[in-house]
Amino acid sequence: MAEFDSHGTFQKAADEYAKIQDAFPDVIRDPLLADMAVKEGDRILDLPCGTGDSIVKAMELAGPTGHALAIDLSPSMIEEAKEKAEAAGVKNIQFVVEDMDKAQFDVAAYDIVVSANGPFFASDLKAFLAKMWDAVKPGGKLVLMTLGRNFLTPISGVFLDLAQSKTEDLQISIPWRITEDILFLRTLLEEVTHGQRVKLTHRDAVMDYKTADGGWNLLMGTAFRNYTLEMSPENQAEIEAEMKEWMQANRQFTATCSFNNITVTKDAA
Ligand SMILES: C[S@@+](CC[C@H](N)C(=O)[O-])C[C@H]1O[C@@H](n2cnc3c(N)ncnc32)[C@H](O)[C@@H]1O
Repeated sequence: MAEFDSHGTFQKAADEYAKIQDAFPDVIRDPLLADMAVKEGDRILDLPCGTGDSIVKAMELAGPTGHALAIDLSPSMIEEAKEKAEAAGVKNIQFVVEDMDKAQFDVAAYDIVVSANGPFFASDLKAFLAKMWDAVKPGGKLVLMTLGRNFLTPISGVFLDLAQSKTEDLQISIPWRITEDILFLRTLLEEVTHGQRVKLTHRDAVMDYKTADGGWNLLMGTAFRNYTLEMSPENQAEIEAEMKEWMQANRQFTATCSFNNITVTKDAA
């Protein structure tokens, strides 16, 4: 399986990704904020922050006495995030373009350490989770969200079949598979947090994209965008038309994404 080009992928998908976050706040942002339960003055570490949808809202709740460090590898995702913060009048987020694998954090410094749809990009998942856990203050919490077995089902499957038929030797890499298994995640987190109680809930989110254009835009806001960019312009136009035709013919205007929501609270000192 090819290595996933996380930098290239989100550099190219930043605009579409931001639009998805705006259109479907109940899929990622709202459940994440519910788990974070932000309090006034909280210090928050968010990585990778993507287009900042969650961290900007979180800092509205934390108010001017709060502070956040938000990291992402992709400059265009960080650019979107900065614009979002500015539009919301939120000033206390430090945005940094950095590889989360290499980033170092102060130990026991944050009330909330959060990673939504990001842990699976770490080159060493266990080391990454341990680093995040170390950054949590006593009494603070680690909040994670990972994708489950459904990823834009069923349109993702149709898209991948079409993409493979149009690209010779298409190298498909789906990094989020590593954290889709709940038992694996729970065991790993119990190890990393030295036996703290891991609260883990699984949910299916149905995304109602309404039109074939909406479904196509949804796919193009994800890592799947890269596969179309590898195609000739003719094949790109063809796969877009064929996908839209399939959605129309099958009256398929929703997609299901499943998520694992995880919270681990650190014992107070
Ligand atoms: C699916 S998005 C999630 C963003 C955000 N947490 C959210 O829930 O909307 C994944 C993000 O991970 C970033 N990313 C991937 N690999 C990374 C790395 N090694 N270091 C930092 N960011 C990374 C990408 O640039 C992208 O913005």
